[in-house]
Amino acid sequence: MRQVMVAGNWKMNGSRDSVRQLIDGIKTGVSGVKAEVVVCPSYVFIPGVADAIAGSGIQLGAQNMCDQDAGAFTGEVSGAMLKDFGVNYVIVGHSERRSLYGETDGVTAVKYTAALRHGLKPIFCIGETLEERESGITESVIARQLDAILEAEGVASLANAVLAYEPVWAIGTGKTATPAQAQEIHAFIRNKIAGLDVGIAVGLRILYGGSMNPGNAAELIAQPDIDGGLIGGASLKADDFLTICKAGG
Ligand code: 13P
Repeated sequence: MRQVMVAGNWKMNGSRDSVRQLIDGIKTGVSGVKAEVVVCPSYVFIPGVADAIAGSGIQLGAQNMCDQDAGAFTGEVSGAMLKDFGVNYVIVGHSERRSLYGETDGVTAVKYTAALRHGLKPIFCIGETLEERESGITESVIARQLDAILEAEGVASLANAVLAYEPVWAIGTGKTATPAQAQEIHAFIRNKIAGLDVGIAVGLRILYGGSMNPGNAAELIAQPDIDGGLIGGASLKADDFLTICKAGG
């Protein structure tokens, strides 16, 4: 059985005060939650959040990382630095990185490789734009995005990674994919991986992301191939996030 995972992608939000309140609120309500709970703060909040969650079972993730290990890369943060602060997961290939910061499939693949090299588990994001969906090329877009990491690291690498299907048109729009729409793509992803290695496909967690909230999380996570969520806006309110964390049972 795959353990449900709920990861909060806080994006570029928060202050020292609001982050302290948020993490304290999550900590207060997290005991007894069966899902694996992950929070992904901005880099500057990682040391404080790492201290705050010690012993709570909450896992720490980063939202991005550099593909290089060390040296003259102004403004970048390495996988080794993240590991040093207790980070276990790193989001790679988020659609905002792809669309706003020019991350190509090639860039996502080298970052995926770098994460694995440092013992970080990538949460690798894939998903189509509205235009791509309306042109009927959703599956080929997702296959192409997946092929970038499969060609770089092979299917076995997914034993140490998580996938997140995030349709771009559902991110931050309040327009969630229906459970059926999401399940269809999650099944496509799992079948594609199963074509390469059935054991890896069965164990692989595929999260849904895109306007998941306390009202729709349970129905989405109940789908056979949806193993949790990658949550943006609703992860910034402790109560909402905790409700989603409990949605998988
Ligand atoms: P929202 O939950 O705000 O739609 O964001 C989803 C997302 O991008 C998570 O990575």
